[in-house]
Amino acid sequence: MDKKISVKVCLGTTCFVMGSANLQELLEVVPRKYGDKVEVAGVPCLRLCSIDWEFSKAPYVKVDDDIIKEATVEKVLNAIEEKLK
Ligand code: FES
Repeated sequence: MDKKISVKVCLGTTCFVMGSANLQELLEVVPRKYGDKVEVAGVPCLRLCSIDWEFSKAPYVKVDDDIIKEATVEKVLNAIEEKLK
């Protein structure tokens, strides 16, 4: 059967400062929109910010194994739509 899509919103300090606070909206919107097809959670630092801190593209969100840089609610929802196709 179809595997659930997993969405991880980084709530680590860097991402939080760079705007992941806005992304917490996803924690409500996604379940309402997709029910149990998508699993969404806030997670601690994904260790992506430390890799390219100088060019930090935080906040980061992971949709399955794909990393979304400079994530916005819209980008994440689009990524989910792509996966559901
Ligand atoms: S705080 Fe988000 S990747 Fe580190």
